[in-house]
Amino acid sequence: MQDLVQKIEAYRKEIEVFEVSTAQQLEEYRIKFLGTKGIVKAIFGEMKTVAPENKREAGQVLNEFKQFAEARYEEAKGSAISNEQPATEEEIDLTLPGDPIEIGARHPITLMRNRIVSIFQRLGFSVADGPEIEDDWHNFTALNLPENHPARDMQDTFYISQNPDWLLRTHTSNVQIREMQKGKLPIRIICPGRVYRNETISARSHCFFHQVEGLYIDENVSFADLKQTLYFFVQEMFGKDVKVRFRPSYFPFTEPSAEMDVSCFICGGKGCRICKHSGWVEILGCGMVHPNVLEACGIDAEKYTGFAFGMGIERPAMLLYDVTDIRLFSENDIRFLKQFKGAT
Ligand code: PHE
Repeated sequence: MQDLVQKIEAYRKEIEVFEVSTAQQLEEYRIKFLGTKGIVKAIFGEMKTVAPENKREAGQVLNEFKQFAEARYEEAKGSAISNEQPATEEEIDLTLPGDPIEIGARHPITLMRNRIVSIFQRLGFSVADGPEIEDDWHNFTALNLPENHPARDMQDTFYISQNPDWLLRTHTSNVQIREMQKGKLPIRIICPGRVYRNETISARSHCFFHQVEGLYIDENVSFADLKQTLYFFVQEMFGKDVKVRFRPSYFPFTEPSAEMDVSCFICGGKGCRICKHSGWVEILGCGMVHPNVLEACGIDAEKYTGFAFGMGIERPAMLLYDVTDIRLFSENDIRFLKQFKGAT
């Protein structure tokens, strides 16, 4: 027993003077005293040589020694770690460039939408918004497309299976209906938004895309106003030299209806792959709002007239940004999106 106490005293002294100011010395200390083959372990093994009547006392001495050895380690560990931190204030070089944070790019569809919207805003149109999940009445019936109307087939519709009265809007004309129902006239709005049609996905068409539709209702609004508004838009959008032409067309919600083409802004009208060698690119549908539509929304069609137009965003974006596959817009491929950094 006396031997043991003496041994422990000697080890205590050794511990006290053991150099533990670097990580390496600390590790040496740990191995020597606290490791599986270390001194603490070994000295505990000597318990069996202690006479039974001394075991209690010996146990106490050993435990105290163990705690002492461990405490020294913990204490040295704390200061070794703080020793390792080299960053004193003089050592931080504040002139070094920081870690660069990459700035993202606006999505090309957003860029295009903003361009279209800002041109119409300058003409006094304001932006209106509405739901993408719509009921049949706002998407079709109120737009002079009663049930079983063949023109409903023009737009392959996604219906919601739980309730066939609900659908994903096929155009943003539902927003026009909702604005007219509010009954505040005159109305001069544009409605940008996402629309859905059950079309096969390919390089040129997708089951969802984006539109901007416009609506102007007041007393004495004429087709001449429609033409002039769209003419202004085209010049602002594609340049002063671009020509427009109107072709008679059919939409249930407008009468008369037209489709508007612009002279191909890629080849200048000479004919190229983009305009399929016709020199013209179709960009929107338009017309005078059908009296049935006005009446369905509670507007006096004798007193008020209006025009409406609608265009897709993807098509002109593909032309202007030279994108050959519409699917790129929704694939979130960072290599594609990055290319629009800084674009307006
Ligand atoms: N709603 C039509 C479409 O989705 C576009 C349009 C709007 C046409 C207004 C004429 C007038 O194709």
